[in-house]
Amino acid sequence: MSDVWVQPTGAALGADIHGVDLARPVSDTAFQHILRAWSDHLVLRFSGQKIDDEMLMDFSARFGELDRVPIAAASLDRTNSGLSKDAEAWVAVISNVVHDGKPVGGLGSYELVWHTDMSYNPLPPRASLLYALEVPPDGGNTGFLDMYSAYETLPDDLRRAIEGRTCIHDSSRNSAGELRKGFQRTLDVRQTPGAVHPLVRLHPVSGRKALFLGRRPGAYIHGLPVEESEALLDAVWKHATQERFAWYQKWRVGDLVLWDNRCVMHRRDAFDESLKRLMHRTQILGEPVLAG
Ligand code: OGA
Ligand code: MN
Repeated sequence: MSDVWVQPTGAALGADIHGVDLARPVSDTAFQHILRAWSDHLVLRFSGQKIDDEMLMDFSARFGELDRVPIAAASLDRTNSGLSKDAEAWVAVISNVVHDGKPVGGLGSYELVWHTDMSYNPLPPRASLLYALEVPPDGGNTGFLDMYSAYETLPDDLRRAIEGRTCIHDSSRNSAGELRKGFQRTLDVRQTPGAVHPLVRLHPVSGRKALFLGRRPGAYIHGLPVEESEALLDAVWKHATQERFAWYQKWRVGDLVLWDNRCVMHRRDAFDESLKRLMHRTQILGEPVLAG
């Protein structure tokens, strides 16, 4: 028996998990319950939590091995994050807060476009966990998309057009469009740096197929003339980003949101830059991307 209670959002994906205090050890029974809910709802929200980085890392590690933080934007000095030495390699600070004239974290207050975390790596993370320490009264909502449904509802012509095809996932820019440390601008999408992945991905646990798009800027479908790649990507993205596949998280302090990075994309609304938003994020090491 466990006290875990799962309350679906009623939208395409997402559920609230009640009855779990992440500042205390989570029993194996409760954790099995959480895993099942995750598999059913793809995004889970644990509200009203009070945890430090140690607890965030401990809970995250139940889902698999922790993955290192992504390469930051060229403008970010990570020594200003306020993280402990132990947390520095594993916890990414997502924030517009400025301390001593320097940002404490990445991604500022602007819009983040739809994306999969770190899919420009050969082994993109399995999951990400984002914990809210400070949030503005409004703005900065995070949207999630169910990429299983996006795949399953693809019109036949689009499904056939992407079958067996792979796509480049741009590693040079973050989801806010900023150039990462050590990267140059690329103008020809055929030269985009980053991992190449199948457009249809087989989820290693559920065995279901999901669209795997990564991010639109810099994307290129291998082997197609650029104009054809652009037109096909536009059509697939238009289909995949419909509101009927989405759910939006409106943040409160103490929310921890976990998403399955293999079958979910996410984005963020911009918010008023004069308001503070501070989030800590962990990511779980992924497995090879299987073609669907
Ligand atoms: C992320 C991300 C969204 C947000 O941390 O990977 O996309 O709402 N964050 O800050
Ligand atoms: Mn992200």
